[in-house]
Amino acid sequence: MKTLIIYTSQTGFTKRYAEWLADRVGGDLLDLKDAQKKSDSFFDDYDAICYGGWAMAEKISKIKWFLDKAPSWENKRLAAFCVGGTPNGEPQVDSLLQNALTDQQREQIKLFYCQGGMNYEKMSAPTRIAMKMFVSALRNKKDATEEQKKMFDRMASSYDISDVKYIEPIAAYLRGAEEEESAS
Ligand SMILES: Cc1cc2nc3c(=O)[nH]c(=O)nc-3n(C[C@H](O)[C@H](O)[C@H](O)COP(=O)(O)O)c2cc1C
Repeated sequence: MKTLIIYTSQTGFTKRYAEWLADRVGGDLLDLKDAQKKSDSFFDDYDAICYGGWAMAEKISKIKWFLDKAPSWENKRLAAFCVGGTPNGEPQVDSLLQNALTDQQREQIKLFYCQGGMNYEKMSAPTRIAMKMFVSALRNKKDATEEQKKMFDRMASSYDISDVKYIEPIAAYLRGAEEEESAS
């Protein structure tokens, strides 16, 4: 049973989750840029493939490549996880997960969310500016609760709310492939 974790990360949170996950399931790890250079046959060996991307304006960054590949991987166990600055349990997380996949994709791909954080020091200058604009747009939402406003204020500076425990459901799902294989 072979598992591959492919990730894209700008400031390191998604990379760290991908490393934790690869370590936990004994899988291989590839940056998306390297995965894109591989031929189709490279992926034949893998029973499970998981994509990790960071949340960008309520979408999962660069997931299109993975979604385009998915139909040709119908015999594999597929999962994806999104790492964002929003804490787990917030409604934004639900809507991000809801909108990320079509019903058809959802039948094939199991989607997870891991809370990450914000690292302004590692962001490129244009991204830092985009982020400030995004936070201020959130802050000005008319229906934002006081609790959410506090969260948006916090998003204006760096923080880390990542935790290795958030990989457990993903690891369990990916390991399911192993159990099925040994049962067959
Ligand atoms: C331009 C931009 C947009 C973002 N949009 C979201 C978002 O919609 N939801 C969210 O939870 N986090 C959002 N974030 C926060 C990142 O997803 C978060 O910092 C994540 O941990 C970054 O992962 P990385 O370190 O792997 O790049 C955004 C960050 C940037 C820079």
